[in-house]
Amino acid sequence: MFVVVGVSGGIAAYKTVHLVRLLVKEGHEVHVVPTADAVRFVGLPTWEAISRNPVTTSVHEDVARVRHVALGQSADLVIVAPATANTLAKMATGLADDLLGTTLLATTAPVVVAPAMHTEMWRHPATAHNVATLRERGVVVVGPDDGALTGGDSGPGRMSEPEEIVAAALSVAGAGGREDLAGLRVVVSAGGTREPIDPVRFIGNRSSGKQGIAVALAAADRGADVVLVAAHVDEGVLAEASAHPRVSVERAGTAAELAAAVASAATGADVVVMAAAVADYRVAEVSDAKLSKDAAAGPGITLHLVENDDILAGLVRDRVDGRIVVGFAAETPQDGESLLDRGRRKAARKGADLLAVNQVGWSQGFEADRNEVTLLEASGDVVGTAAGSKRDVADALWDAVLGIRSKNK
Ligand code: CTP
Repeated sequence: MFVVVGVSGGIAAYKTVHLVRLLVKEGHEVHVVPTADAVRFVGLPTWEAISRNPVTTSVHEDVARVRHVALGQSADLVIVAPATANTLAKMATGLADDLLGTTLLATTAPVVVAPAMHTEMWRHPATAHNVATLRERGVVVVGPDDGALTGGDSGPGRMSEPEEIVAAALSVAGAGGREDLAGLRVVVSAGGTREPIDPVRFIGNRSSGKQGIAVALAAADRGADVVLVAAHVDEGVLAEASAHPRVSVERAGTAAELAAAVASAATGADVVVMAAAVADYRVAEVSDAKLSKDAAAGPGITLHLVENDDILAGLVRDRVDGRIVVGFAAETPQDGESLLDRGRRKAARKGADLLAVNQVGWSQGFEADRNEVTLLEASGDVVGTAAGSKRDVADALWDAVLGIRSKNK
């Protein structure tokens, strides 16, 4: 997608560097159009390096290629972040005294603005009126958030986080354009559970939830209504999912909480995906007070662990007609054993309609942005493989789910 990112002169421009990076990382062609004031906060070399395209503030450069309208005409999406009170006023009036102004007048693409200013300026009737005018014209306004502002005060006026702006903008622009999951109700669990030992300690795992969140976002982008049950996850990645209009997020800490949240969300669901790394065991007796070495009888202590319910197995057992249940299997194959053999044994044991098997290790699988999976049916038949970004893997998983749905019809 050809994305123009307009930047106006506010300190939040530093966050827009990350926003541009997110778009470039997702494979979009990004052209940054800063105002003259914006480059006092972040300079042209930074915008050029991060967007990998030339950047200018002036309508008098590249005149032969009519740059002052060409960018707007080519754009599939325009994001203005930060949008200062001044820039919002200029947009509402249609002023075009710089490259950002001409670009905005020349475009028919969706426009998303992320305001950033002090609370008083945001609440001023002039700004409120300008924002209402822009909204009437179809401009999508993301934020501003409530929080600490430069200068020590706080209140509404903080620019939303880049992940949130990008997610909202891409969904406005219909990124991907596929709506092949429209009408489906989907539940996805993600992240690692934590089982308390005492008020300050827990047994956890290395899951970041990135793969599960990618599964949820892919489904939402393809038209599904998604409940994302998030255990302990990378909060930045979760923010992107929370901003999606078709994703609602529920939080869970322990395996028991996750089981309850998934069970209630699953009522009426067409597909349930267990991507969470659920603890197999919990501490039998959680201590109300912090365990102390003074109280230990000897040089070590023993924790008694009891098994947690297998949520996936329960979902398979209680499955209603037509519902598809998907599991993940994180495996570290042992000597002489292949990943596929191990995956097949688990597929038979779990009985899920689809099992995504991936190899994990000390430096593989967790926290990474890439993944590689083999998709197995309960019979052990391979119905797909995927290697690439966690989003690519998520899309392959949904393709396989659609394959199973059409076979079941
Ligand atoms: N799972 C679950 N409830 C549990 C444990 C796991 O629902 N108490 C789900 C996971 O969300 C995943 C699948 O089961 O979808 C496989 O998880 P994994 O940890 O690979 O398998 P385990 O059942 O724990 O088996 P093992 O420890 O023998 O590998």
